[in-house]
Amino acid sequence: MTDFPSPAGVNERRGPLRPGQRVQLKDAKGRLNTITLTEGGQFHSYQGVLHHDDLIGGPDGVVARNSAGHEYQVLRPLISDFVLSMPRGATVVYPKDSGQIVQMADIFPGARVVEAGVGSGGLSISLLRAVGDAGELHSYERREEFADVARANVQTFFGGEHPAWQIHLGDAQEEMTAVHEPGSVDRVVLDMLAPWECLDAVATVLAPGGVWINYVATATQLSRVAEAIREDGRFTQTEASETMVRGWHLDGLAVRPDHRMVAHTGFLLVCRRLATGQEALALKKRSKVSEFKAVDVEAWQPADESRWTPQALGERPVTDKKARKAAREAASMEQKGARRHLADTDPEEGPAVAADPVDPADL
Ligand SMILES: C[S@@+](CC[C@H](N)C(=O)[O-])C[C@H]1O[C@@H](n2cnc3c(N)ncnc32)[C@H](O)[C@@H]1O
Repeated sequence: MTDFPSPAGVNERRGPLRPGQRVQLKDAKGRLNTITLTEGGQFHSYQGVLHHDDLIGGPDGVVARNSAGHEYQVLRPLISDFVLSMPRGATVVYPKDSGQIVQMADIFPGARVVEAGVGSGGLSISLLRAVGDAGELHSYERREEFADVARANVQTFFGGEHPAWQIHLGDAQEEMTAVHEPGSVDRVVLDMLAPWECLDAVATVLAPGGVWINYVATATQLSRVAEAIREDGRFTQTEASETMVRGWHLDGLAVRPDHRMVAHTGFLLVCRRLATGQEALALKKRSKVSEFKAVDVEAWQPADESRWTPQALGERPVTDKKARKAAREAASMEQKGARRHLADTDPEEGPAVAADPVDPADL
């Protein structure tokens, strides 16, 4: 267990740059590299060498020059930079969505939160920040290699183990009722293929008034989980949304939206747990705008569970080999951060760790 001052990760984010910390180097052409600072370390590019020692002990936000006079803007990665460049097995929740999840699920300091699956740990980082050191985040994951990736990524981000975090291996729908007393969890956050399979377990562990939020990639999953919640009757105030963020180009008088954007990542479905034995208040509608039967819903939602596969939903399957590779990369990045007082760059590791470019297809 690493010792760090409270709140967790604060030293990673402020003060002079220190060995073991990650910094982003952006050159005048906008090329980005992320390196882990080591005493005596060097960043080699096709144009010269930048010595880590020139940055260590200095402030964040400097413009540094390498041996050939080539300039770099040096900045500590923000949470969104980190999540989008960290090693990943499973697809991460995009920062615009994690921000919404924290807000819409009302994740508060000290909250007891259940999350599944943990994937690469992208969302776990935001949830841990929101619950703080005095909260509890219980993250359930069925694939051990993904849990390894997530553990290493979270430790790199916070500079050590986070006191509020526990990973539980196994199927969330089976494990969470064994771990938590009925009605003892404040919030449940699910990012998985078939969240409806967890409905009974979520209804059991969630406290009256507690919030359940689902992040799903397709409209068919959204509809399936919404219908399951409606039929179940133990939840109320079900609302669906998606979040679009459009960047703007700012250049003198050329002020306009960017030509390209990340148009789709996923949908959010949020609802609240009723107190035991309560029925949701039936809202009076002005007119009966829609009428449907179960057969209409089934027309686009196969009842056959075996047809809800990652491929059918347009997801790229992650092989065990790829997941193990991501786990090795995440562990190596975490160890670089932990080895704070290395005298020299390890020649076997090479001079620098380049950030993974973000593939929009992965988002
Ligand atoms: C899209 S990933 C989660 C990504 C994660 N939120 C992030 O930001 O890095 C979905 C994960 O859910 C896991 N999973 C799917 N069904 C599960 C279940 N019933 N119980 C536990 N984990 C599950 C998968 O193994 C996968 O790692």
